[in-house]
Amino acid sequence: MITDHFSPDLLKGRTAFITGGGSGVNLAIGKAFAALGARIGICGRTRERLESGRIALEALGAEVFTAVADVRDAEAVQAALDACRLALGPVDILVCGAAGNFVAPAEAISAKGFRTVVEIDLLGTFHATRAAFPQLRETRGNILFVSGGQSFVPFAFQAHVGAAKAGIDNLMRNLALEWGRYGIRCNSIVPGPVKDTEGMKRLGGQEDPDLWRAMTPLGRMAEQEEIGQAAAFLVSPLASYVSGARLCVDGGQNLTGSTLFNAAIARALAAETGDPA
Ligand code: COA
Repeated sequence: MITDHFSPDLLKGRTAFITGGGSGVNLAIGKAFAALGARIGICGRTRERLESGRIALEALGAEVFTAVADVRDAEAVQAALDACRLALGPVDILVCGAAGNFVAPAEAISAKGFRTVVEIDLLGTFHATRAAFPQLRETRGNILFVSGGQSFVPFAFQAHVGAAKAGIDNLMRNLALEWGRYGIRCNSIVPGPVKDTEGMKRLGGQEDPDLWRAMTPLGRMAEQEEIGQAAAFLVSPLASYVSGARLCVDGGQNLTGSTLFNAAIARALAAETGDPA
C-alpha cells in the first residue's frame, strides 16, 4: 500500500485534476493521490466511468469533483477546470492522461483516424495545460504528462500514437522551459505494460501476457498501483527540483525495443485479415 511508504499527508490540501481519470492507469494515479490526502477532479467522456471513478476515490477519503468533458473540446476542458476550482479550490497538480489507441498498419489509418488520436492525446493535453495554467501559476503547481514508449521507440502499427506521444513529451519540455519561471514543474511518466487496462487490451496484452513478459526485463507487467506510486513521487514535494524529466515506469521494457511486439501484432493482424504476415 502506498501509505506504507509515503506519508498519508504527502498531498494533503492539494487539488489534483486528471483528464481521463475515470478508469485505468489514470484512475490508479488518482487513487494514489487520494490515499495521500489530495482532493481529486476527474473529467472524461462518459458519465458512467466518472461515477465509478468517483466511488473508488471517495472510498479512499477524497473529496471528488467530476465533469463530463472530451479533451478534444477546449471550451469543455476550460469549463471543467473552472468548475473544479469552484468545487475543490485551485489546481495544484494537473495530470494529462486522456488517450486513445488502436493498432493499425500506417497505410490503413485514415486521415481522420490519425487526427483522432493526435487530437485526443496531443491537442487534448495542450487544452488541459492551457486551461489549467492560471490556477497552476497561482499555486506554483505541476503537470504530469502521461506519455508512452512509442514516443521514443517506433512500434509498428502505432504511427499515430508515436506521433502523438512524441509531441506530448516535447510539449512537456517546452512548458517546463517556459513555465519554470512561474514555479510550475512539468514531467512525463511512461507507463510500460500494465495489467487490466484498456491500453493493454488494445495492444494485445490481455490475450498474450507472455509477449509483454518476454519484452520486459523485470519479466512481468506492472500492477496499476505501481504507476500511481511513481506518479505520486513526481507530483509531490519529494520531486521539487525535478522538471523537464521523463520517468519510465516500465520494468525496463524500453531497453528491449519493439521487435517482439511488431512480429506478434503482424501475426495477429494477418490472422484477422488472411493476408500473409
Ligand atoms: N483501424 C483503423 N482505423 C481505425 C481503427 C482501427 N482499428 N479504429 C478507429 N479507427 C478510425 C476510424 O475508422 C475513424 O476514421 P474513419 O471515419 O476515417 O474510418 C477514426 O479512427 C475515428 O474513429 P471513431 O470511432 O469515430 O472515433 P472515436 O472518437 O469514437 O474513438 C478512438 C476514438 C478511435 C481512439 C477509440 O479507440 C477510443 O475511443 N479510444 C479511447 C480509449 C482508449 O483507446 N484507451 C486506451 C488508451 S492507451
